[in-house]
Amino acid sequence: MSGPTRVLVLNGPNLGRLGSREPEVYGRATFAELADRCREVAGALGLSADVRQTDDEAELVAWLHEAADAGLPVVLNPAAFTHYSYALRDACALLTAPLVEVHLSNPAAREQFRHTSVVAGVATGTVAGFGPASYDLALRAVAGLLAAGSGA
Ligand code: DQA
Repeated sequence: MSGPTRVLVLNGPNLGRLGSREPEVYGRATFAELADRCREVAGALGLSADVRQTDDEAELVAWLHEAADAGLPVVLNPAAFTHYSYALRDACALLTAPLVEVHLSNPAAREQFRHTSVVAGVATGTVAGFGPASYDLALRAVAGLLAAGSGA
């Protein structure tokens, strides 16, 4: 018997500090609240969200390998790694199921160094600028892609 399709919701450095981290940019919701919201939204879409956060690039790469090996879809907020981690980008390129890049803020409307995403080119798509609702929309996109039978 198979349960709901798992989706990994992976979060990079400093996102564990949500709630107190630059609230004027990232809002007041804590990471635990964001994780609860993702699990709830995923559940309503018939998905099961496995929500994780790390400050460690190697751990994030290992989680992407896990998703690649298991053929799992991923919602990824690479945080600052977005802008310079080719290791993360190459790990993303291993994925065979949909990958949605997500950001709370709109990096395109911020400092110049945030205008580049080295991940975007290997993502199925990107959602940015809607606060925690960016994750809702990303999960919706994953559910839609899976329902449409898209491998990527
Ligand atoms: C972020 C945007 C990045 O530029 C930043 O480094 C983050 C968070 C966002 O969700 O808006 O840590 O990914």
